[in-house]
Amino acid sequence: MNSPFTNRIPVCQALAAQGPMDTIHICGWVRTRRDSKGFSFLEINDGSCLANIQAIVDEGTPAYANIEKATTGASVSIHGSLTASPGKGQKWEVRAAEMSVLGEADAETFPLQKKRHSDEFLRTIAHLRPRTNKYGALFRIRSEAAFAVHEYFRENGFFGVHSPILTGSDCEGAGEMFRVTTLNQDGTSKEGHKSSPQELFQHDFFGKECNLTVSGQLEAENLALGLGKVYTFGPTFRAENSNTPRHAAEFWMIEPEMAFATLEDNMQLAEGLTRSVVKRVLERCAPDIDLFNKFVDTDLEKRLTTLVNEPFARVSYTEAVKILQQCGKTFEFPVSFGTDLQTEHERFLAEEHFAKPVIVYDYPKTIKAFYMRLNDDNTTVAAMDVLVPRIGELIGGSQREDRLDVLEARIRELGQDPAHYWWYMDLRRFGSVPHAGFGMGFERLLMMLTGVTNIRDVIPFPRTPGNLEF
Ligand code: 4AD
Ligand code: MG
Repeated sequence: MNSPFTNRIPVCQALAAQGPMDTIHICGWVRTRRDSKGFSFLEINDGSCLANIQAIVDEGTPAYANIEKATTGASVSIHGSLTASPGKGQKWEVRAAEMSVLGEADAETFPLQKKRHSDEFLRTIAHLRPRTNKYGALFRIRSEAAFAVHEYFRENGFFGVHSPILTGSDCEGAGEMFRVTTLNQDGTSKEGHKSSPQELFQHDFFGKECNLTVSGQLEAENLALGLGKVYTFGPTFRAENSNTPRHAAEFWMIEPEMAFATLEDNMQLAEGLTRSVVKRVLERCAPDIDLFNKFVDTDLEKRLTTLVNEPFARVSYTEAVKILQQCGKTFEFPVSFGTDLQTEHERFLAEEHFAKPVIVYDYPKTIKAFYMRLNDDNTTVAAMDVLVPRIGELIGGSQREDRLDVLEARIRELGQDPAHYWWYMDLRRFGSVPHAGFGMGFERLLMMLTGVTNIRDVIPFPRTPGNLEF
């Protein structure tokens, strides 16, 4: 079968052509049209790159018959030739012979007219924003960054594994989970069975409580203690009702886990991964990154280059608290040993004090999850957070508690039932090894890569409290 699009050339390829072409087929959306006497210029974008290609539609050609319908936002298919452009700013242009308008876009109602729209407005038309320069660039960078993550792990001997999305355990123990159920609103099952108050989920689909995963870590640990080095890269869900520019209810997390590794190995991996992804995105998405550097954050390229070229700073939690106490700045939340660092503290450390990414390690056990390895001081755990300028926490991880008795005691201490984690504890029962891993928030990484300050603008369809459109 023939497709009318078989010979279509993406705009990015046409613009990179080595020489003129007698015939070319271009498809895309009209960004603008300018009419002159006897001909029209169309700026066409097909999403393959930031740049548009210019098409010239001459009065004398059959293409001109449809010119009135080629308004901003309309989709067009153009057959013609690729010729050297006499205009400045572009090397090649298309001389249209035939043009069809595939889908019109009424100028009165099409929301994306040629002007700058606010991010807030564009969020309300998230289904159309991929057609703007900024969001086209954003989602191309998102794609390239994801690829660079997989590439880095592959090159470093990690196996990609898939952890479940439906889960019966709360990895973070923070209780911020979305429940998944097939029970009716009145609590009865499809078959009409009603559970007892003691066993609410007895007649639910799984016969027990089910939630969307908040992290694939526990399962990744299982796989690491069989395959050595693994990573997951998948969606995670948190029902934290914090309507901040850095939290989404659905986000993507990169979670490596290594057997035979300590906190030191973990810090090296976190730094290696971050630098490698940033370096590749800078190399491969230069025009898109330039756009953000020009219009969103004029320090972006400088900051990312520093990140690639300089080692991250490192500081223990205890020292970090001292720095914050002695810096002479007043924070909304005061700090002392045992308080969780707030975004304002994290940003001060990364942005002002160190002026580059900093790894804070050895946090008090009282503010961290049950699975982190208890240090010999009995007070801190072998945890680490990577904090970066403008964002705060990019990565959170730890060496894992590999001693059965200590783990069990920690689970009890935090008010949970060790029986519930029998399979997780089995890893410590049979062939336990020191191991470590972390979670990197993919949207936070993208905020860092683009300078975009709201997480709603780095994911195609953001899910945040009260928002489930699209
Ligand atoms: O620090 P967190 O909660 O760590 C964990 O979930 C560990 N189980 C990870 C591990 O060790 N395998 O989350 C890890 C990262 C954070 O540093 C942050 O970048 C991101 O996930 N993150 C969020 N990103 C967007 N929206 C949210 N609500 C997020 N919560 C965490
Ligand atoms: Mg964290």
